[in-house]
Amino acid sequence: MNTLDAIAKRRSIRKYKSEQIEDANLEQVIKAGQIAPNAGPFHISVIQNAELLNKIAEVSVQAMKDSGIKMMMNRAAVPGFSPLYGAPTLVVLSASPKNPYSMANIAAAGANMTVAATDLGLGSCLMATPELGFKADAALAAAAGIPEGFSVILCATLGHIDDDVKIPARTETDNVNYIK
Ligand SMILES: Cc1cc2nc3c(=O)[nH]c(=O)nc-3n(C[C@H](O)[C@H](O)[C@H](O)COP(=O)(O)O)c2cc1C
Repeated sequence: MNTLDAIAKRRSIRKYKSEQIEDANLEQVIKAGQIAPNAGPFHISVIQNAELLNKIAEVSVQAMKDSGIKMMMNRAAVPGFSPLYGAPTLVVLSASPKNPYSMANIAAAGANMTVAATDLGLGSCLMATPELGFKADAALAAAAGIPEGFSVILCATLGHIDDDVKIPARTETDNVNYIK
């Protein structure tokens, strides 16, 4: 796929098939994250263990309910809501909270990975909500192999897009000006 086509085609996918993604595709997505522009170190943890994925989902839903943030609380209250949307792979991006560029580094890696996933015909969704779960339960970070001194900043689901998913067109945004 042409790069611009993959960028245009990428959408956040919120329902996945249970079958795991192929290792060769995972490797390419992770490589795309590793080679993103960066201003400092960050770490990529890939979680495919069903027990740990369930635990992250469970703790994150509770953290959303306890967050005091209305939008999060409403979303978590929807019956059957799962913050990982049934994805068989979760990529957890972490970095040092002491580096002022950690957020930017992680965003660049996440963008590269989701575009790469689109190029490979996979679904993905960048997500802030699991970060609440990692904050609420320190044991999750250890289980996920987050390096010492790093905090979880952003996650991305990866998986095959469920057949029921209807991908809506992206609405036009008017957030640019030009000075020539
Ligand atoms: C930093 C960040 C955090 C996000 N967190 C979530 C999240 O927790 N759950 C979710 O379903 N989508 C999340 N999204 C996805 C956005 O909702 C989505 O990118 C936006 O609505 C635009 O839609 P599109 O990605 O389909 O083009 C997040 C996106 C970003 C960039």
